[in-house]
Amino acid sequence: MSLVETDVLVVGSGPAGGAAALLLSTYGVPNVVVTKYSALADTPRAHITNQRTMEVLRDAGLEDVVTAQATPQHLMGDTPFCTSLAGEELGRLHTWYTHPARKAEHDLASPTSICDMPQHLMEPVLVNAAIARGTRFRFDTEYVGLVQDDDGVTATVRDRLRGDEYRIRAKYLIGADGGRSQVAADIGLPTVGQMGVAGSINIVFEADLTKYVAHRPSTLYWVLQTGSDVGGIGMGLVRCVRPWHEWLIVWGYDINGEPPNLTEDYARQVAHMLIGDDTVPVRITSSSAWTVNHLYAERYSSGRVFCAGDAVHRHPPSNGLGSNTSIQDAYNLAWKLKLVLSGAAGPELLETYTAERAPIGKQIVDRANQSIGDTRRIFDALGLLSTSDPEQMRANMAARKDPGAEAEKQRQALREAVAFKDYEFNTHGVELNQRYTSSAVVPDGGAAQNPRDDELFHHATTTPGAKVPHAWVGRGAARLSTLDLGGQGRFTLLTGIGGEAWTAAAGAVGAALGVEIAVVRIGPGADYEDLYGDWAAVRGVGDTGAVLTRPDNYVGYRVPSLPEDPGSALEGALRRILGRV
Ligand code: FDA
Repeated sequence: MSLVETDVLVVGSGPAGGAAALLLSTYGVPNVVVTKYSALADTPRAHITNQRTMEVLRDAGLEDVVTAQATPQHLMGDTPFCTSLAGEELGRLHTWYTHPARKAEHDLASPTSICDMPQHLMEPVLVNAAIARGTRFRFDTEYVGLVQDDDGVTATVRDRLRGDEYRIRAKYLIGADGGRSQVAADIGLPTVGQMGVAGSINIVFEADLTKYVAHRPSTLYWVLQTGSDVGGIGMGLVRCVRPWHEWLIVWGYDINGEPPNLTEDYARQVAHMLIGDDTVPVRITSSSAWTVNHLYAERYSSGRVFCAGDAVHRHPPSNGLGSNTSIQDAYNLAWKLKLVLSGAAGPELLETYTAERAPIGKQIVDRANQSIGDTRRIFDALGLLSTSDPEQMRANMAARKDPGAEAEKQRQALREAVAFKDYEFNTHGVELNQRYTSSAVVPDGGAAQNPRDDELFHHATTTPGAKVPHAWVGRGAARLSTLDLGGQGRFTLLTGIGGEAWTAAAGAVGAALGVEIAVVRIGPGADYEDLYGDWAAVRGVGDTGAVLTRPDNYVGYRVPSLPEDPGSALEGALRRILGRV
């Protein structure tokens, strides 16, 4: 058998594998991707791309490419709950931070914007850039198995065109092979939860729905009809893929019965039912069945093999966390692999991948499934749970239009149930407050206590283990985010006036440990101006203190003021982070 050699073998070219390859190549780490099929994703699948993911893409130099193709925020969030697109509207919610108050917080939290980037457009962006930066990419190549030893991993792969098998020898392997991960199974990752909780169908179609949607631009149109609470994601969904002519319907089926026969006629019938107007021409592109899962891995690696994405967290699309979390897994792992491969970090650094990402995986799996459960509040408010008789259901829904105390109570209950869906569509905290506790973070006793609801609201802090807060800084005509000062595969020390001694300290420590540490001083007349005073408000340290950001733009260490010996303070912190104590 022939043997291909590389530093990192990535199995899978979805959001997790694509991002891993992209970041490894960006950091100069040789890598090979094998992927089972002859093409990247051919259906839209995941789409909501949150600010944290956009920050990752910004660091990788791809924010503009994605923004140019994505549906922008202002077309994403006037989200109705209705009986059909042509039918009655029951309530509306500002989603994805389009409520004016939430929009302000969204804009303050990050230099980037949430957007809607369907997976069949996202994957080529990641993979093309990865290949351009050095990734060796193999379509039609299926991972079959692996053996590992002290020095590396030998994977067996099958060329699906020729039919033969060959081996790839890598120092590390990333299993980004999705929700039926063979890699995760082969390394025996322990999982909690259940697959196949509910049955769901995706129907992709083309139809000009402008007259039903353009006055309430949204990425999601929620439809309550008889049977829409069976299986699936709790309600019928008409999702915009491209405004306003490409669409994806999500509809449920009873997982305890037979899955429906997905003929074109059946798909068209469901589409017309949810549109509520069967005179609209509909061209079905594809349909497929899938299941809602509630499962996460408690460990993400074994030896030299790491898993990322759906391989380790499987959940419904609620809250739009699927590809976001997968890309963010890769961002956490790639720099660690780079530093361990270069010898600058000890293998202990790789242990922090599970410590940091597994709690996030559990959180988002639970969150997404909880959001399905929360939908029942709307059914309850409309009186749809107390009967299965369609006539009675219609009467119960119509009762909200009556005068009188009962109907007033019902109207209030419906408003509250719709507003409660904030926990699915406006969870800024879930997206941006992911905190890490591990040996790659030096705690300083500070607590990142969010004074508000930690799921709904972002809390910017430099407490070690939090994402670097965004503040605009400037030099001349240029305006940059503090996040732009960090990232780029290196450590960055953010300091201020009087913190000059950090520069020499960082130079000496970086040279001694073999890592790059950039030093940036922010303040009047320094490297960058604190344009609006936002950095001073959030940095949590004094002018002479410092915030050390890791290559993934997380705070690794901070110190309130210049210590007597900044070199040894910094070296101590970095040795801990790098696993070289
Ligand atoms: P992903 O599944 O995207 O990629 C896995 C990769 O591994 C693929 O490239 C595959 O070919 C490859 N692979 C698998 N086995 C292999 C093997 N043995 N050897 C080599 N390669 C192998 N999410 C959402 O938020 N909204 C939505 O509407 C949907 N809809 C949806 C529909 C369908 C049909 C699917 C399959 C998934 C969704 N999702 C979704 C989920 C979302 O797509 C998912 O969370 C991310 O794609 C996860 O990204 P990963 O890269 O982890 O896996």
